[in-house]
Amino acid sequence: MYVCNCNGIREREVRAAIEAGAKRPVEVFIACETRAQCARCVCDMRQMIDDHGEALRYAAE
Ligand code: FES
Repeated sequence: MYVCNCNGIREREVRAAIEAGAKRPVEVFIACETRAQCARCVCDMRQMIDDHGEALRYAAE
């Protein structure tokens, strides 16, 4: 499934970028060697970043 249609960035690529340390959508774009265009995907990326952070916090408890 694509998260970013403009750049063809798939969900698994976003997850890989987040697991590699991306904390903001711009860092996901950089990890994918691209840049935001329409930025419609930014909210979804932020949500995935937040979910990842919460999962880590939950796992640490
Ligand atoms: S959908 Fe990602 S920049 Fe347009």
